[in-house]
Amino acid sequence: MSKIISFICFFMLICSTIYADNNVVINNILNRKSVRKYTAQKVEQDKIDTIIKAGMSAPSAMNKQPWEFIVISDKKKLEDIAKILPYALPVKNASVAIIVCGNVDVSESYWVQDCSAVTENILLAAESLGLGAVWCGIYPQDERVKGIQRLLIIPKNIIPLSVVPIGYPLGNEMPKQKYNPSKIHNNKW
Ligand SMILES: Cc1cc2nc3c(=O)[nH]c(=O)nc-3n(C[C@H](O)[C@H](O)[C@H](O)COP(=O)(O)O)c2cc1C
Repeated sequence: MSKIISFICFFMLICSTIYADNNVVINNILNRKSVRKYTAQKVEQDKIDTIIKAGMSAPSAMNKQPWEFIVISDKKKLEDIAKILPYALPVKNASVAIIVCGNVDVSESYWVQDCSAVTENILLAAESLGLGAVWCGIYPQDERVKGIQRLLIIPKNIIPLSVVPIGYPLGNEMPKQKYNPSKIHNNKW
C-alpha cells in the first residue's frame, strides 16, 4: 500500500514539475530579473501601452486604484531623474522610464501596497515582452520624493513611489535563484 502511495506522490510531483515548466506565467515570474543596461533601441509605443495596462491591472485595497503614471522618454529628463536619485543610474540610458505614483487623497492607508503591486506588474510585463527593467526606489526617502516632485511639477498629494527604466537588454542577465524551502512554515512558525 505504501509503495502505491509513494508512486502516486512521485507521479504527482513529476506532473506538477511538467506543468510548471509549461506554464508561461510561472516561467515569466521565475525569469524576471533586474536589468540595468540597455541597448539604444527604442521601446515601441504599443509595448509601453501594454506595460502600463498590466500595471493598471494590479489589485488595490477596496479597488481604489490610487495610482498615476508619468512616462518619461525625453533624454534630458531621464538624465535629470538619474541626478536626483543616487541609485537610479540606469534611468539615464533607458529608452523610457515609468514613474509610478500614488494619490494619497484616494487611498491614504494603502497607496504604497497598491503602487508596489503596480510596479511588480510592470516588471513582469517588461520581462514577458523581452525587455529589461529594474525597480528604482523613490518613496519613502523624503529628499528623493521632493526632488522628483519639483522636477516634474507633481502636485503634493501625488507621491512618486518608484521609477522603472525600461529598454532592450544589453547583456544576458540571469534570474537570481531565491527559492528557499527553509522560509516556509506550515500551520505554525
Ligand atoms: C523597493 C525597492 C527598491 C529598489 N531600489 C533600487 C534602486 O534604487 N536601484 C537599483 O538599481 N535597484 C533597486 N531595486 C532592485 C533590487 O536591487 C533588486 O530587485 C534585487 O537586487 C533583487 O534582484 P532581482 O530583481 O534581479 O531579483 C529595488 C527593489 C525594490 C523592491
